[in-house]
Amino acid sequence: MINNAAFPPVGILGLGFLGQILAREFSAVPESWGTWHLTPPPEPILSNFSFDWANENNWSALPETPVTLVLTIPPLLKNPETEAERLHLWGKWMSHNRPELKSMIYISTTGVYPKRNGIWSEDSDFEADTNSGKLRLVTENILSQYFSLQVVRPGGIYGYGRGIDVRLKSGKPIPVSNTPVHRIHVMDLARIICHLVDNPNAPNCVNAVDLEAKPSWEVAKWLIENRNDLTEEMLPDAADCLPGTPQRIISNQRLLELGITLCYPTFREGMEG
Ligand SMILES: NC(=O)c1ccc[n+]([C@@H]2O[C@H](COP(=O)([O-])OP(=O)(O)OC[C@H]3O[C@@H](n4cnc5c(N)ncnc54)[C@H](OP(=O)(O)O)[C@@H]3O)[C@@H](O)[C@H]2O)c1
Repeated sequence: MINNAAFPPVGILGLGFLGQILAREFSAVPESWGTWHLTPPPEPILSNFSFDWANENNWSALPETPVTLVLTIPPLLKNPETEAERLHLWGKWMSHNRPELKSMIYISTTGVYPKRNGIWSEDSDFEADTNSGKLRLVTENILSQYFSLQVVRPGGIYGYGRGIDVRLKSGKPIPVSNTPVHRIHVMDLARIICHLVDNPNAPNCVNAVDLEAKPSWEVAKWLIENRNDLTEEMLPDAADCLPGTPQRIISNQRLLELGITLCYPTFREGMEG
């Protein structure tokens, strides 16, 4: 938790999994707030209120006091063109009606990068090859026209009730593929976001991935060998290995250059139990 009352406040759009962890970090930072959509957060964290991004009549619920907005809500529409129109409408409304809310950190995804072998960094020249990737790139691009924007592209977010260990316990399938999965522990992701809130002049886009990407099946096998609460029987029958992209690497060079030491540098520390 941030114990500096002078730390810049945030407005968290979407108190979901990441949003609630972040809210706890900012609970002692005055003027910070968060929004929920269908269900209020289970414990009272920050000042919070209901907000439906899809409903224009709800937009005026956003306070006018300057904060750094942290947008965790995923794209609302499936079609990139109609989502782009919606984002322009909101961006124009915000510029007109909430000019004090100029700074935004947008939680995007490493899913923007093509599903091809290669080393993908924030500066790579590429086009998304999935609809969800296209939606995210459109969002990044349009938001940058209305806000002073920092983009965070996390890999798979795990920790506190999410991850391969939890899937094993609940008997959920584990993908069998040789494609490395890039991950980030939710606490480290929250720390990266805190760093950006405090350093608005940091690079405007950063991949949030830890130091060791591994296929999910290999992580599952490691967990069974190393955790007393997980047993061989929990490993689902291995389906045939899907053809993957074993050399698809998401660069974490820029993240390392920010100087943030990860508390959970790999899934081993993050899932050791
Ligand atoms: N999980 C991962 O592995 C992963 C990896 C990379 C990137 N990401 C992205 O990172 C972001 C944060 O992830 P997360 O796991 O914290 O997601 P999450 O738990 O699904 O949180 C997203 C929040 O957005 C809210 N929301 C949805 N529709 C809304 C609307 N119309 N108006 C207002 N709020 C709305 C949801 O509220 P309701 O649930 O009440 O609708 C939810 O609280 C997401 O954009 C996610 O796609 C996730």
